[in-house]
Amino acid sequence: TTTRVAVLVGSLRADSVNRQVAEYLRDHAPEGVQLDVVEDLDALPFYNEDVDAGQTPADAQRVRDAVADADGLLLVTPEYNGTMPAVLNNAIDWLSRPYGQGAITGKPVAAIGVTPTPYGGVWSHEHALKSATIAGGIALEDVTVSQTSIDVDVLGTEEVIAKLQGAVDAIVAFSPEPATV
Ligand code: FNR
Repeated sequence: TTTRVAVLVGSLRADSVNRQVAEYLRDHAPEGVQLDVVEDLDALPFYNEDVDAGQTPADAQRVRDAVADADGLLLVTPEYNGTMPAVLNNAIDWLSRPYGQGAITGKPVAAIGVTPTPYGGVWSHEHALKSATIAGGIALEDVTVSQTSIDVDVLGTEEVIAKLQGAVDAIVAFSPEPATV
């Protein structure tokens, strides 16, 4: 059996450090754990109840299916202006509906990320977990990392990696009956 974790990255930047963190964790996933980065979150339209009441947009269905098929959700995000980037907030909104039956319902969620400021994106992670909880998910820990020089070689200290990996471990530990791939 494999525990599957869907990963949403809050930065669209090609050289995003948070994307690098997500891909690092994916490429170093523990035995029996599979991380899948859900791509192209910017293809999601802004959430609109009128649109959702009609034919679900293909990209919204794709993102919903990716999360519905996973055992848990890992949010890897920087902070924009004291909160999570809009692209991540919008994805959570799509995952929160239909009300009470959104793809995020009942899924363990962890929020992690890196910013180059001393705050490390602490509000972003707090807000993302609050939003994920109200959307129906179950908030686990958040891991906030502050790095002034941000590249994976710098991140590659055992302490930081272990902290970030801990969020994946928490999701896996939460899932008593992993889905079978
Ligand atoms: C930022 N940044 C930022 N950082 C932070 O710690 N707190 C904040 O409130 C903000 N606000 C903010 C707003 C906007 C519009 C931008 C573009 C940036 C800096 C941000 O953390 C930095 O750009 C990170 O490197 C972004 O992560 P990625 O893209 O490397 O993953």
